Amino acid sequence: MRVPLAAAALVSLWAVAAAHATRADAPAARRDAQAGSSPPVTRSTWDRVYSDEQAKRGAGVYALRCTHCHGELLGGNGEEATPLAGPAFLSAWDGSTLGALFSRIRTTMPDDNPGTLGGQEIADVMAYVLSVNKFPSGQAELPHDSVQLQQIRFQASKSHAVGRAQDGR
Ligand code: HEC
Repeated sequence: MRVPLAAAALVSLWAVAAAHATRADAPAARRDAQAGSSPPVTRSTWDRVYSDEQAKRGAGVYALRCTHCHGELLGGNGEEATPLAGPAFLSAWDGSTLGALFSRIRTTMPDDNPGTLGGQEIADVMAYVLSVNKFPSGQAELPHDSVQLQQIRFQASKSHAVGRAQDGR
């Protein structure tokens, strides 16, 4: 146990509450984004928001902390642990932000030990998830700052992308 017991208890209580609050996750996040309560969205998942090296690190985090439920190819376990790649995952998060995905993972995952991942590990595992979902990589790493992540839209299809990708640059 790396944190004092009381803090750990608080964190897990908070995680349980958050898990319930975010059960309806993606649509709620989308509403928040549209309501303007979040910082303005300036980029999308098509704007090369992570690096290959980061995705490689994230694959390591995934193998240790996520594979046993979400499957080796991110296909889910056929039961409760849903796929983290493919059409169902993409449409569940379409229009949301990477900030929403970050906080979903931070507060509820891994399901058997929530609240135990550091911000950098979460950003890295998200980079891996983006790479498996075939979003393009670039030079810069995905930040682990939730305000910056809220400015990046999770955009399933390139044709609707905001930001630079839309201009074809
Ligand atoms: C003990 C099993 C387990 C582990 C380990 C686990 N998950 Fe999950 N995960 C689940 C289950 C079950 C759900 C769906 C139910 C829920 O929301 O809790 C889920 C849902 C998710 C979702 C939401 C998917 C969607 O379509 O909305 C994401 C994102 C996610 N997990 C990411 C991760 C990541 C990243 C890791 C590793 C750091 C991880 N999970 C580890 C069981 C697990």
